[in-house]
Amino acid sequence: MKKLRTTDFLKMKERGEKIAMITAYDATIAAIVDAAGVDMVLVGDSLGNVVQGLEDTLSVTLDEMIYHTKIVSRSVARAHLCSDMPFLSYHKSPEDAIESAGRLLKEGRAESVKLEVNDAYVDTVYRIQKAGIPVVAHIGLCPQSVHLMGGYKVQGGMPGEREALLNLAKSCEQAGAFMVVIESVLSGVARDITQGLAIPTVGIGSGTDCDGQVLVINDMIGLTPEPIPKFVKKYAKVADTISDSIKKYVEEVKKGTFPSQEQSYG
Ligand code: KIV
Repeated sequence: MKKLRTTDFLKMKERGEKIAMITAYDATIAAIVDAAGVDMVLVGDSLGNVVQGLEDTLSVTLDEMIYHTKIVSRSVARAHLCSDMPFLSYHKSPEDAIESAGRLLKEGRAESVKLEVNDAYVDTVYRIQKAGIPVVAHIGLCPQSVHLMGGYKVQGGMPGEREALLNLAKSCEQAGAFMVVIESVLSGVARDITQGLAIPTVGIGSGTDCDGQVLVINDMIGLTPEPIPKFVKKYAKVADTISDSIKKYVEEVKKGTFPSQEQSYG
């Protein structure tokens, strides 16, 4: 089976083939999404929300990201594996950023890293990729800056925001990022960014015209409790399936109908 590499995503953009990315946080789910044909698996720091039950991603540590990346990496054979750099793992200095990104590759076995970028961190993108580590630049709504942004708000509609995002995306490309993730940006702005870059864009809540899409797996399989964001399409109702089967199990254990002879030895 051919492993997808960073260079393949550029070719996909060139031939107009959309990129399908999804998050995963453990080996079981990673094996399923990889076998189902996803192009890129992201170990997102969204694990703070969907695995750890936190309100935001700010408390996720580098060691936790390494742990989840390591267990996901054991099951990903075809897809490219990208891991998120958590809050404060790349902010203090470029040296610190290279060290953190390097640990995600060395210990976690990620094949690239993603970081939330504003103007001040374009140089960090450059420094990390010069160290031989492929970088995905995350722009638009940056969840690690939730307090600075005053909440999770759609980006690109305020005066000057469109130009700022276009310039930032271009700077990330020039700094050596191989992909840009665009989160919660007005569709027209995301389209203009996509058309202005040679490298692919992957959107989340950013309309139809990005070169690919990414979703948090728990949201799209129906594991996340309502309300879920407008941009999520629910492809399954896994929480209902789990709940129904647990209710049945409890009922059968109480009634004494599980286990039966069929599930017993001798
Ligand atoms: O943390 C995450 O899962 C992400 C994606 C939703 C893009 O950053």
